[in-house]
Amino acid sequence: MSVHNSRKRLLAPDITAMKGQGPIVALTAYHAHTAAIADRYCDFLLVGDSLGMVMHGFETTVPVPLELMIMHGRAVVRGAKRALVVVDMPFGSYEESPSVAFRNAARVMKETDCGAVKIEGGRRMAETIRYLVERGIPVMAHIGLTPQSVNVIGGFKAQGRTTEQWAAIEEDARLVADAGAFAVVLEAITQPLAARITEAINIPTIGIGASESCDGQILVMEDMLGLSPQVPRFVKKFGKVGEAIEDAIQSYAEDVRSRAFPTPDHTYPMKAEAPKGRSRVSPSQVRATKKPKTLSSKG
Ligand code: KIV
Repeated sequence: MSVHNSRKRLLAPDITAMKGQGPIVALTAYHAHTAAIADRYCDFLLVGDSLGMVMHGFETTVPVPLELMIMHGRAVVRGAKRALVVVDMPFGSYEESPSVAFRNAARVMKETDCGAVKIEGGRRMAETIRYLVERGIPVMAHIGLTPQSVNVIGGFKAQGRTTEQWAAIEEDARLVADAGAFAVVLEAITQPLAARITEAINIPTIGIGASESCDGQILVMEDMLGLSPQVPRFVKKFGKVGEAIEDAIQSYAEDVRSRAFPTPDHTYPMKAEAPKGRSRVSPSQVRATKKPKTLSSKG
């Protein structure tokens, strides 16, 4: 191939190669401007279907349509220059069969220009992961608590809290790694189990509520910024963005009501205008003073 790839963006294999090289840093991102900021600090950005809950007010991620993921995926790819952008496949867009998954994942890749997709599920998705990877679609897997299955699990519950549950989750991790996933999200699982899985498989484990024993960490951006009204136990709030927004909006409302805003500094001054009246120059005089057009500068 003679065309040089000028893209500086990380690709899925770059993330895989980071296993054992120090923690991988990731956040969710849903729009261009925050993606541009996170891009400076993160190795990958996930356009998570959590956007349905944190941005669109759904109670779970189940109602999120593919079109919404594509729209936010495009925005994040436009904002990020270096980080790998991974887009979540929403509920109902990949479970039916590997070929349905391929059709929808290919659409996501083509329409957003993202570098990979993520799908939830362990052994039940291993065949689909293999099918997608063999056809050119890098896949990040997601096991442990899989929020799209909330109606079956019976809530957003931590997994692997008893040792009997460990074998099934460890097996999920092995099967998605063997199927060709380039990394796997471990959500809401206990530390000893996360440590065992991280040791057992050769792809990076990305923890969310899964302890420091993972190869990388991800959080939902709105949660860590302190913007979400309620957050799970595993979230550390690194900012007070919700309070900052409320303070700013309260001050704005007060200033508008008291007419302290806007001031002349916030309005446009008039442009100086020539005094109105009849021109003393006749149209023929104007024509006579115009320079003839030349065809070239040397003319
Ligand atoms: O949708 C999402 O934000 C996710 C993260 C919780 C990993 O899948």
